[in-house]
Amino acid sequence: MVYLNLKRAAVLMTALLLGASGAWAASPSNIVVIGATAQSAPEIIKQALAQGRKVTALARRPEAVASAGQANLKIIKGDVREPASIESALTGKEVVISLIGPRVDPRVELESMDLYTVGTANIAAAMKKKGNKKLIVTSSIGAEHVVTEKPKGTELRDMWLWNGRKLYADMSAMEKMMPGLGLPYIILRPGFMIEQPAANNIKIAVDNTAPKGAGPIVTFADFAGFVLAQVDSDQYNGKAVSIFSDIQSEWGKNLDFDAMLKMRQSQGPMENGPAAAKK
Ligand SMILES: NC(=O)c1ccc[n+]([C@@H]2O[C@H](COP(=O)([O-])OP(=O)(O)OC[C@H]3O[C@@H](n4cnc5c(N)ncnc54)[C@H](OP(=O)(O)O)[C@@H]3O)[C@@H](O)[C@H]2O)c1
Repeated sequence: MVYLNLKRAAVLMTALLLGASGAWAASPSNIVVIGATAQSAPEIIKQALAQGRKVTALARRPEAVASAGQANLKIIKGDVREPASIESALTGKEVVISLIGPRVDPRVELESMDLYTVGTANIAAAMKKKGNKKLIVTSSIGAEHVVTEKPKGTELRDMWLWNGRKLYADMSAMEKMMPGLGLPYIILRPGFMIEQPAANNIKIAVDNTAPKGAGPIVTFADFAGFVLAQVDSDQYNGKAVSIFSDIQSEWGKNLDFDAMLKMRQSQGPMENGPAAAKK
């Protein structure tokens, strides 16, 4: 198991990119962010632009992409179920970051899910057609042990992983599919992400479970920093990297499923059926 503090990763990354003169040795790679209206996308786009990268944002709802109007940001309407729209976002040179995830209601048992497997296969096919070489996908620490037993409790916090188990199973299937796609890749498995200033406290575990004492709460800012540090680094190629921090979860405070549900509802109708409207 390998643990690394984000600060150390940032220092290493800076040392790699800085030449003896202190000038940038090479310009950082440009990126395509797929699922660019994801909660985690605004920080990734903002930090990438600040690093001098050109960013292409592919989104089903292009009007909701953050940082619109910035010179180095191109926004394209697209859907990972429509391969031509993915191809239209690629020039063949960018590193591709997929943040796709379904908008599903955790109060309702999910009947089926194939977004991660189908969407990622389509992304990889488009990349190979256009010549793009590296894919960073997002999974979850929840994909590591998909629940198989119905919990006794009925609260949202009890039912969340159970109702969504097909989502986590699809993530897990995507993870297993990655080596066969014929592209360099990294799988990132965040814990529970929150909107807070960067805490520079990331702890990671490679191909394994949480470091002892680690908490699942990670800020979007720290996650974005870690994602972008992987764009020009081969360190974790072919690995699944679980992302924790030293912040422990507190129900109803920094781990608030009700707040997360409200946020998703505000983005549009849920994708798992009309029953989603019922409590
Ligand atoms: N947030 C967390 O705490 C957390 C924790 C663990 C793992 N993760 C995983 O990390 C990834 C990023 O998380 P997030 O919370 O930032 O994501 P998110 O807010 O759930 O957003 C998912 C994104 O995927 C897009 N999408 C869904 N179906 C699509 C399709 N067919 N074609 C193109 N785009 C599609 C959504 O578009 P719309 O806006 O149009 O729906 C949205 O932009 C996700 O895979 C998520 O499951 C997140």
